[in-house]
Amino acid sequence: MAESGLDIAVIGATGAVGSDLIEAFERSSIDVARFIPVASASRVHSPVEAGGKRYTVLPVTGDAVPEKVLEEADLVVFATPASVTRTLAPAVVDAGIAIIDVGGALVDQGVMAVPLAGFPVDSDLFTDRRIACSPSAPAVLAATVLRPLRALGLSRAQLSVMLPAGAFGRGGAEELSRQVVSLFNSGDPPRALFPDGLAFDVLAALGTPADDWTGAERRLSMELAALLRLQPTDLPATVMVIPTFAGVSLNAVVTLQPGVGAERVRTTLNAIPTITVRDPVVSPLHTVGTATAHAGRIRDDPGGRGVHFWASGDNLRFGASANVLAIAAQLWRENLL
Ligand SMILES: NC(=O)c1ccc[n+]([C@@H]2O[C@H](COP(=O)([O-])OP(=O)(O)OC[C@H]3O[C@@H](n4cnc5c(N)ncnc54)[C@H](OP(=O)(O)O)[C@@H]3O)[C@@H](O)[C@H]2O)c1
Repeated sequence: MAESGLDIAVIGATGAVGSDLIEAFERSSIDVARFIPVASASRVHSPVEAGGKRYTVLPVTGDAVPEKVLEEADLVVFATPASVTRTLAPAVVDAGIAIIDVGGALVDQGVMAVPLAGFPVDSDLFTDRRIACSPSAPAVLAATVLRPLRALGLSRAQLSVMLPAGAFGRGGAEELSRQVVSLFNSGDPPRALFPDGLAFDVLAALGTPADDWTGAERRLSMELAALLRLQPTDLPATVMVIPTFAGVSLNAVVTLQPGVGAERVRTTLNAIPTITVRDPVVSPLHTVGTATAHAGRIRDDPGGRGVHFWASGDNLRFGASANVLAIAAQLWRENLL
């Protein structure tokens, strides 16, 4: 443990989320003494540079969390694929170190929080296993723009979510890029993450639907239901994948109390510091590097059945890093680290 400031281990430090997170921590007001970057042992990584220091990336060999993490970290952030997070987390829990899980792989063991959207960590629940989970990027975005509408009688939200290839990590963006180049050159495009292709196309479902809805759709409805205290059936979500590299976006159709229309929704969303309301609405690409949600195209349903609007955000800076930082800041403030 550091004498002043936090020693923060980032498992998955070389990935899309992990690298953005280290940058975001550096610029935050959280006092970081040292980072302990960790990645897979599948390749040799260059050192990570942060705050004028160079940190060697420690490998995970044979599913063992590096000793340095277990001995020195005050906080471990998991920015790894869900299966890896679930395999490695027990050793960190046994060492009594606080965990922030990016993506919600440990949601059955920890407490989900989106302080960015006004859903702070429940400290009493956190102290049990010391695991706080930041949900998926679309859940962070949707929670941010839907929470203020509870005061307007939100009873249902129907979401159409568009995920970029970048939501599948570095590999997703690389594969889309190689598919585009390959198709331009009449080559054979790589299809590991997107077996049906993605370049110049739209995927109407992420994975194979079971009972009509996909796992990603059910999970999003459940994450939002837990936060907003509605039923998952009141939050049906269709999750599509579009051939962009960054920025998550959604169209929401919301049912509010009678008489509430687009103008009230605009005023309400505009009053929230973590939401920027603008028309024309900010496109997903132009949200990159911003740590707020963007909303616009707020319009009354022509049949008088609620309000439609569009929202977008950077899947990394907003949908992951900003929320992780907000969780870490709360835990630090409350002496829970
Ligand atoms: N991308 C997004 O927009 C986004 C947004 C919110 C949440 N999330 C969640 O954040 C997590 C990370 O996503 P990502 O997009 O950053 O993925 P990514 O770019 O593929 O990065 C994965 C990271 O995990 C490391 N890793 C993989 N297997 C490992 C192992 N066995 N032991 C230790 N480290 C291992 C990788 O190391 P190597 O470099 O050595 O392979 C890399 O650093 C996922 O759970 C995802 O659902 C992603």
